[in-house]
Amino acid sequence: MSYSVVILAGGEGKRMKSTTPKVLHQILNKPMLGYIIDKALKVCSNIGVVLYHNKDLIQNYINSNFSNIQIYTQDYKRFPGTAGAIMGVEFTSKRLLLLNADMPLITQGDLEKLMNSNAAMAVGIVNKQDPTGYGRAIIKNAKLEAIVEEKDATDTQKQISWVNGGVYSFDTDFLKTALGQITNSNAQNEYYITDLVQIAIAQNKSVEPIFCDETSLFGVNSKLELAKAQGLMQERINNYWLENGVFLHNSISTLIDESVVFKGECFVESGCVIKGKTIIQNSTIHANSIVEDAQIIDSFIGPFARIRPNSYINSSKIGNFVETKSSKLTGVKAGHLSYIGDATIEKGTNVGAGMITCNYDGKQKHKTNIGKNVFIGSDSHFVAPINVEDNAIIAAGSTITKDIKEGELAISRTNQTNKAGFFKKFFDA
Ligand code: UD1
Ligand code: MG
Repeated sequence: MSYSVVILAGGEGKRMKSTTPKVLHQILNKPMLGYIIDKALKVCSNIGVVLYHNKDLIQNYINSNFSNIQIYTQDYKRFPGTAGAIMGVEFTSKRLLLLNADMPLITQGDLEKLMNSNAAMAVGIVNKQDPTGYGRAIIKNAKLEAIVEEKDATDTQKQISWVNGGVYSFDTDFLKTALGQITNSNAQNEYYITDLVQIAIAQNKSVEPIFCDETSLFGVNSKLELAKAQGLMQERINNYWLENGVFLHNSISTLIDESVVFKGECFVESGCVIKGKTIIQNSTIHANSIVEDAQIIDSFIGPFARIRPNSYINSSKIGNFVETKSSKLTGVKAGHLSYIGDATIEKGTNVGAGMITCNYDGKQKHKTNIGKNVFIGSDSHFVAPINVEDNAIIAAGSTITKDIKEGELAISRTNQTNKAGFFKKFFDA
């Protein structure tokens, strides 16, 4: 069956009370629109997005993260509303999967269920403990008879807990003729896609309710719903990893992006944030550490460590208040209070507390290369670019500005002088 997908993202999103477009609000560091496009791409390659409000911002996001997505512009001034949104769409396939963009938790399974329908119109329906805000589904004898928006609903209709989830599958021949029959005579003076249920019934066309998972069709219209959706996504991701070899000591306090990958057996203590394209293999992340776009293998990180993008950490121990960025550490111990940026540190090297790579000269970033079995004394600074060969010793408190050869001791600090009897002289005076 030839299918295309259209995602509706032209709305104003007023209830978010934000200058950021609603569909670009993030859940675990990814915009809501990104989740739905990713899921749509799993079931179909022909995808369009309808835009209007904040069109440029949203289009920029789409163009920088996806290719071959068709953009439509809604004629919003004349045709506001969810049906208005598709009035300018060209229907080239036999069937259309139509999706609201504000449902980041949508599952591939529910999309496939809708796509299996042959009805003129299939509607994703869910049962909600609290249906507030959703269009109510009037179902009689297992038949969907109408969808009534909350603002148009009577008090009795508001009691109904079956709601429209905001996902539909259409026969496009039906859609082409029926769209013209929708009017804007409702509380919001908008053209509602949901009016098509009654239009189809009046034409003796089939309408099929597709009963979906409540979480999957969770709609986000406010920041409160955004927070709830993030909580649901967090639970979904964390439960997946708990079932796949990762022990999260306190799942509710652990934020793991959808793009993170764990391999082997890993342990993540409470309060950790693991972001981006991070890969963690057979490692422990101790409490309150942040890891982003990094690779960690056979290592111990934290507590209170910050592993920033392009860190590669293998067979190493990174302790509290250590920050790494664009650095490769293999077989290294860096236990306390360090900044390691644009550096390579090799096997057996011990990084003393307070070691800092001075990698930025105000204009450019420079590299620090430290070899094997180097002993780096506490509170030492490496003014990059610097190369340190194997088996060197750096005395505590040194500011290193020159390369160090194999086996050397580097020391750069002022000599200490002790003055006898000074205390008494100073305070008795
Ligand atoms: C909509 C449904 C409601 C359903 C709910 C599920 C209608 C009339 N109502 O309500 O029955 O229970 O979703 O979450 O469809 N949009 C446009 N152009 C517009 C207006 C909206 O593209 O002119 C887009 C929005 O960007 C959004 C989607 O359509 O992604 C839904 O709009 P929204 O305002 O969130 O509708 P709801 O009130 O949630
Ligand atoms: Mg909505």
